[in-house]
Amino acid sequence: MPLIPLYQCLKEAEKGGYGVGAFNVNNMEQIQGIMKAARELNSPVILQASRGALKYTDMVYLKYLVQAAVEQNPDIPVVLHLDHGDSLETVKKAIELGFTSVMIDASHHDFETNVRISREVVEYAHQFGVSVEAELGTLGGIEEDVAGEVQLTDPDQAEEFVERVGCDALAVAIGTSHGAYKFRGEPKLALDLISEIYSRVKIPLVMHGSSSVPKELVETINTYGGSIQDSYGVPIESIQHGIKNGVRKINVDTDLRLAMTGAVRKTLFEDPSKFDPRDYLGPAREAVYQVVAQRMKDFGSAGHGGDYEPMTLEDMKEIYGVK
Ligand code: G3H
Ligand code: 13P
Ligand code: ZN
Repeated sequence: MPLIPLYQCLKEAEKGGYGVGAFNVNNMEQIQGIMKAARELNSPVILQASRGALKYTDMVYLKYLVQAAVEQNPDIPVVLHLDHGDSLETVKKAIELGFTSVMIDASHHDFETNVRISREVVEYAHQFGVSVEAELGTLGGIEEDVAGEVQLTDPDQAEEFVERVGCDALAVAIGTSHGAYKFRGEPKLALDLISEIYSRVKIPLVMHGSSSVPKELVETINTYGGSIQDSYGVPIESIQHGIKNGVRKINVDTDLRLAMTGAVRKTLFEDPSKFDPRDYLGPAREAVYQVVAQRMKDFGSAGHGGDYEPMTLEDMKEIYGVK
């Protein structure tokens, strides 16, 4: 099936009561590892590319790698999503490349500016039937919130924001942050905010910074010459709580990075004579597959690949009332 819009993916997830993993991609091995998991578990999947990923792949490589993934997995519903789009210009590029969904992240601006920039993106993207994720609040730990550096999403503001912006999904800040060092100790998340926000906005919520930073992945890296200390991620149970309360898209990048790095380090450590990239990128791809397969089970999307009657961007234009 062709790439599907995020709108449809998250609506289906809502119906089925599960969450869909949105995994960051930058190269062929990541895409293949993720798609192997989606295929074996018959799961819908969101492949997402950051601005950094677009730059790294020179855009066109990314486009065709994803096209290959779709061609090889005709039964799997796949969304191609722009992660943390910073401007209308970036959004335009992504839509030109064939993305079926974009995120506009203007959350670091004041509320009115965030509304204006996000609204502008919605008006543009919906003309093409492309879905839009916007963000309100800023990521970070709860402790940092006390220090005033981070703003959790305010449910009142969220209601007004979604009404004025008209986005298809809302990224919320509940105390997670990007990367491997999310908490100083026991994870603290404002999980109660999720149901409060969802009851007001009634659109699918997105959890960024959702890597769990599994101890065994960190241990592999450290055993084979790496140095990753005091890293803490988001417990799977917290994500599952989110899914029960309106979270439908779960962003995971760091866990895949850790998995790949551990596999590369282990391979080269165990046999320092190796120099064929396939010898270490193969195990790295397999490590991505293992993590993604586990997340598809954790988030409940496994087994739901066949539920989709694929919608096109033309179908979406009708839904958005584009003439
Ligand atoms: O949100 C950030 C993602 O982990 C992507 O990271 O900008 O380094 O590609 P990146
Ligand atoms: P992690 O760093 O927790 O994997 O989060 C990724 C993310 O939110 C991408 O947008
Ligand atoms: Zn993010």
